[in-house]
Amino acid sequence: MKEYSNSVDTRIIKIDPDNIDWKYLQLAGQAIREGRLVAFPTETVYGLGADALNAEALLKIFQAKKRPFYDPLIVHIYNLKEIYDYVEFFPDVARTLGELFWPGPLTMVLKKSKSISDIVTSGLDTVAIRIPDHKVALGLIKEARRPIAAPSANLFSHTSPTTAWHVISDLKGSIDIIIDSGETLIGLESTVLDVTTSPLQILRLGGITFESLKKIIPDIIIADDHIKIKKAPGMLSRHYSPLAKLILVKDKDEKMIEKIRKIALQHRNKGKKVGVIACQENREKYSGFIVKVLGEAKDLNSCARNLYAQLRILDELKCDIIISENFEDIGMGRAIMDRLKRASRNC
Ligand code: TXA
Ligand code: MG
Repeated sequence: MKEYSNSVDTRIIKIDPDNIDWKYLQLAGQAIREGRLVAFPTETVYGLGADALNAEALLKIFQAKKRPFYDPLIVHIYNLKEIYDYVEFFPDVARTLGELFWPGPLTMVLKKSKSISDIVTSGLDTVAIRIPDHKVALGLIKEARRPIAAPSANLFSHTSPTTAWHVISDLKGSIDIIIDSGETLIGLESTVLDVTTSPLQILRLGGITFESLKKIIPDIIIADDHIKIKKAPGMLSRHYSPLAKLILVKDKDEKMIEKIRKIALQHRNKGKKVGVIACQENREKYSGFIVKVLGEAKDLNSCARNLYAQLRILDELKCDIIISENFEDIGMGRAIMDRLKRASRNC
């Protein structure tokens, strides 16, 4: 296979989701059909797409991202009818969830059919599938006339991209096309749900909350960490991470603020550049340090939307240490806390 890194003339195409210029989407769809790599927006994060039925194109994804082959890819499809081509069995519960949450940020792990290759699934007998809720993503799948396999469009283990600029800084020169449709709405990845087990297990918290799934499936569980890593190998301990060392402070309220100030001061005294991730209400409490605000503490959707972009800014500012407040562990807050915990691990 020919080397695919830093040798490609990356074309950046702007597409307004509210006024799609179809000739550009046709061009991007054709690129997918021809086995090339196209980064595209979804409602969660930007994806790095390739023809899910073309082994050579799939290999390019792993090369461009420097992603190990043990980490399987999500297949993005256009509508529910198509799913029968890619799964051996589509249980009633999965259909119910698909009808309720698709298009949307829910990825379901299902028994794969023969048409899905081992490269997509890293040799597993299951395949992860979702229908994205974004006009440009759906338009691209439609124009490509095939399912699109797409991991997040970042270098392996880095934070996922929520703007085309993030994709450019990780992957320009390694992929063929980057579609720029502005900031993504949700800002964290989809929820990955294993529907092959009983009870159903959430392998990755994300855009569809645990609470909203539990309303439909009362006995649903969030998988233990070791199960998550075993079943969704992409959930390695240190993942979704900025380059700087991240410290997540667990205390609450005034105690949390006091502790963050103390740790920040200690590191600054050692000559380190320190950044703080905080909610709007506490911004002033860290004056003298670089502070990046995610949103008001109660507005967990905004906090989720801003998390990766703010971590990237702190990396661009060359912070050595990032200290983060903790956020309420409910709704989207669970996914925020999951990413912060992962990023704060040392291995
Ligand atoms: O929001 C998203 O899900 C984005 C957009 C582009 O759709 N995609 C994304 O893909 O985050 P990626 O590759 O960065 O993360 C996919 C996760 C990984 O943790 C992977 O291990 C898991 O899904 N996964 C994929 N196939 C699986 C399977 N058959 N069984 C269990 N986990 C699977
Ligand atoms: Mg990813």
